[in-house]
Amino acid sequence: MIRARPTVAEVDLDAVRHNVRAMKPDRAQLMAVVKADGYGHGATEVARAALEAGATWLGVATVEEALALRESGLRAPILVLSELSRGSESEALAGGITPTLYTEDGLRWLSSAARSLDLTPGVHVKVDTGMHRVGLFPPDRAVEFVTGAVAAQCAFEGLWTHLARAEEDTATTEAQLRRFRRSSDDLAAAGLTPSYRHAANSAATIRHPESHFDLVRVGIALYGLDPGGGLGDRAGLRPALRWRTAVTQVKRLPTGEAVSYGHRYRLERDTTVATIPVGYADGYRRGLSSRADVLIGGRRRRVAGTVTMDQTLVDCGDDPVQAGDEVVLIGRQGDQEVTADELARILATIGYEVVCGIGPRVPRVFVGEQDQEPTPTRNGGAPS
Ligand SMILES: Cc1ncc(COP(=O)(O)O)c(C=O)c1O
Repeated sequence: MIRARPTVAEVDLDAVRHNVRAMKPDRAQLMAVVKADGYGHGATEVARAALEAGATWLGVATVEEALALRESGLRAPILVLSELSRGSESEALAGGITPTLYTEDGLRWLSSAARSLDLTPGVHVKVDTGMHRVGLFPPDRAVEFVTGAVAAQCAFEGLWTHLARAEEDTATTEAQLRRFRRSSDDLAAAGLTPSYRHAANSAATIRHPESHFDLVRVGIALYGLDPGGGLGDRAGLRPALRWRTAVTQVKRLPTGEAVSYGHRYRLERDTTVATIPVGYADGYRRGLSSRADVLIGGRRRRVAGTVTMDQTLVDCGDDPVQAGDEVVLIGRQGDQEVTADELARILATIGYEVVCGIGPRVPRVFVGEQDQEPTPTRNGGAPS
């Protein structure tokens, strides 16, 4: 397929491997959470790199995501982090996908698929200890629920919960973990002991070692982004994604001219303005208009005026910028860096949303693939 536009998201798989090693506790396994196309980084490639570096599980949001990983040839256990959508149970079980369970209806549908396939699937029961999104509530129903699951042709393989405030608060996290331990103890007293108990997301993996149990579910930190509260720095993570493009046109405009839709950016002196082929249809959000910096020639340069659907203008001052020069939207150039978290602050959101929002029109290119030469990255030249 032709790849003529220089706008690409370059994903460094060595950084992913580094982040897995930085995050994996000595005494617990690591699940690489690669839902939402690996938080916009490319699920299959990130999953493969994470497994190479020691991850043993993959976590996804949907059956479709799980089956796509299987179709790419990945054989590791894959947990779907919510109950399977109704009607997808047989396909999921036939694909060897591990289901989460927390409702009687979900159990009925899963059990019926299991019986018709003559399988006894391992299931992970999710208890709601305070996030109140999905999960069995109150968690002291766990013994009754798991007993029912075992009677309905399911093997009790995992018990898990999800933390609501691990990056910012200790008391809530401790309270959630207490409820989780109580469920787990009640189950053990009833002779129901799963192989895996898990609770920790990235923030908890870094900040709450008591939450590690048998497995940690690491998402954002795999990608080298901050789970919140500066925890990313503490763990020594390396951002994996570099979003780059290249200048398509340069103009020298006189004092008093205004640029882009709405003429909201007026030049106070003669200025070199560069056009770059990226816009809000790519996920470079309109809220970044006149507020974000990009890197050109190793210097920070301000977005000039309104970000449009496909193109954005940049105020380059008197810099000798030329068509073809590399422009970095997220990542390093020389000794400068623009982070996803920096864009997130401008947009009043979190880094997660910034990287998940990089659209499908932006090709992902991978560097650091094992047994392959690194892909060249200079001056926006998209690799072939
Ligand atoms: C259930 C569950 N576990 C783990 C994660 C990973 O969280 P994080 O990306 O903060 O590590 C997520 C992500 O939202 C999740 O929904």
